[in-house]
Amino acid sequence: MDIRQATIDDLLGMQNANLLNLPENYTFKYYLYHALTWPELSYVAVDPQGRVVGYILSKMEEEPAGEPHGHVTSISVIRPYRRLGLANRLMRQAQEAMVAHYGAAQITLHVRKSNRAAISLYRDTLGFEVHEVQKSYYADGEDAYGMRYDFKQTA
Ligand code: ACO
Repeated sequence: MDIRQATIDDLLGMQNANLLNLPENYTFKYYLYHALTWPELSYVAVDPQGRVVGYILSKMEEEPAGEPHGHVTSISVIRPYRRLGLANRLMRQAQEAMVAHYGAAQITLHVRKSNRAAISLYRDTLGFEVHEVQKSYYADGEDAYGMRYDFKQTA
């Protein structure tokens, strides 16, 4: 499976994958905003026919309190392509680009407390830590873990 930077032409495929995989959905305009503002920070995994089977949509925090930091808006991989290491590769690509292009000091994201697969990816595979619990963060009332990875720990 190929992983490459997302282009404007991939946005509908990303939106479709997101609709299949997650209840947190976004307008097409929001995908476009990411692609135009931080083109280096979103990636797709594509099958041999060029279809989007996974994506990461990420950005830089627009009003950071301190040093620049990146944020993962959404990541998902469609079901038949899971456990092949695609999300791990997508995350690492975005992380590298945040440091290389924007000098990011850290990266943050939110994840549902019940999302064991994603929490394991972030914590066990990538070394993120939970830094806060946001009560009723999601529309259905579920809490979110705010997770963070400090790039300086690998410097
Ligand atoms: N159960 C336990 N651990 C898991 C699971 C699982 N089902 N899936 C992945 N992991 C962990 C494992 O540690 C795995 O390493 P291993 O395979 O060596 O054991 C590691 O994550 C890397 O797995 P990948 O193969 O890279 O992950 P995958 O490509 O399958 O994608 C993802 C993981 C994105 C969570 C996928 O299951 C998915 O799309 N889920 C639905 C959407 C979703 O929950 N997205 C995240 C929401 S939070 C946000 O977007 C910021």
